Amino acid sequence: MSPIEEVIINKKSDINPIWIMRQAGRYLPEFREIRKQNPDFIKLCLNEKLSSEITLQPLKRFDLDAAIIFSDILMLPYGLNQTVEFKKNVGPLLGNFDLKEISNIEEVEFVEKLSSVYKLIKLVSNSQFTKNKTTIGFVGAPWTLLVYIINKKSPKLSLNENFFEDKYLIDKILKILDKFLKIHIKNQIDSGAQIIQIFDSWAGLLKEKDLPYYIYDPTLSLVNYTKSLNVPVICFPRGIKNYKNYCEIIKPDAICIDYEVDPAKISKEINIPVQGGMDPKLLLSDKENLKKETTKYLDIFKDHPYIFNLGHGVLPETDPNMMDYLVKTVKDY
Ligand code: CP3
Repeated sequence: MSPIEEVIINKKSDINPIWIMRQAGRYLPEFREIRKQNPDFIKLCLNEKLSSEITLQPLKRFDLDAAIIFSDILMLPYGLNQTVEFKKNVGPLLGNFDLKEISNIEEVEFVEKLSSVYKLIKLVSNSQFTKNKTTIGFVGAPWTLLVYIINKKSPKLSLNENFFEDKYLIDKILKILDKFLKIHIKNQIDSGAQIIQIFDSWAGLLKEKDLPYYIYDPTLSLVNYTKSLNVPVICFPRGIKNYKNYCEIIKPDAICIDYEVDPAKISKEINIPVQGGMDPKLLLSDKENLKKETTKYLDIFKDHPYIFNLGHGVLPETDPNMMDYLVKTVKDY
C-alpha cells in the first residue's frame, strides 16, 4: 500500500506523505516549455503522450507521494459538447449549453471524447515513476461544474442573482452531471486511478440554506458511488464555512482544507484523515518562514492521519527550489 493509502485507509498518523495541488503546472519551466508549443489547453490535455509526461514532471524533480493526472475539471463540460477554451489572463470561457443536445449524449460518445484522459491514467499508473506512489484521478463537484456551465466563466467573488432563476434547467443539469461524473469516475478508476479527489472550488459562494440541494445531495451521491467501487475519495469544498458539518453529512474518506480555516480547530473537530491547508503564498516567502509554517501544520496534525498539501494550487510564480525545500522539510520532519 502506498503512504497516502496508508493514511487514508489504515489511518496511519506517524507518516507524512505529501503531494501538491497543481504540482504539474506553470511554476515548472519544463511545463511552460511544452505549453508554449501547445497553445490549445484542451488539446494538450487530450494528448496522452504529453499529458502523461507533464503529470510525471514534478515526480522527477521532487519526492512526492502522488501523481495527480494532468487534466481539468472542465473536461466534463467539454465531454458534454459545451465548448471550453482557456484565454490567457482571463481564465476559462465556455460556450452556450444546449440542454436538448446534452440530454441526448450517449455514454459511448462521451467516453470516446475523453478516451485520451483514460489512456493518460494508464500510462501514468504503469510508469516506473509512480512505483509505491498513488495515482490520483479527480472530478469537479456538481456545484462547481454547474457554476461554470451556467456562468460560462469563473465567477470570481459572487454570482448574479439571476444565476438561480431557471430551476428547471438547474435540476436537469445536476441530473446529467450526476450521470456523467459517475461515468468519468468509473473510467478513471478502471484505468488505474487509486484515489478520487472531488474539487468544489466554489463551495464558498453558497448560502447555508442552499447547501443541501447544491452541495450535500449531489456530492454525497458521487462519494457513495466511488466508495461502492472500493476507492477512497477526498473532498475539497474550498471556502465552505463549516467543514465539520460537511464531513458529518458527506463522510468522505479524507477532507482537504483550504487556507482560510484554522487547522488547530479542524484537528480537534474532525476525526477523519485531513489533507492540505497551508497558504500557497508561503512558498513565495523565504525558507525560514516556509519551514516554520510547514512545521506548524505537521505539529498540529502530529497525532492525526494527515497528508501534507497546500490550501489551494501552487502559484505559477513559485520558485521550484522552494517547492523542493518544502518537500524536503516534510520528509525530514
Ligand atoms: O497538477 C494538478 O493539480 C492537476 C491538474 C489540474 C488542472 N486543473 C490543470 C490546469 C487540476 C486538478 C485542475 C482542477 C481545476 N480546474 C479546478 C479545481 C481546483 C481549483 O483550482 O480550484 C478548477 C476550478 C479548474 C478550472 C480552471 N482550469 C481554471 C479556473 C483555470 C484557469 C486559471 C489559471 O490558472 O489560469 C484552469 C486552467 C488550468 N488547469 C491550468 C492548469 C495547469 C493552467 C493552464 C495554463 O497553462 O494556462
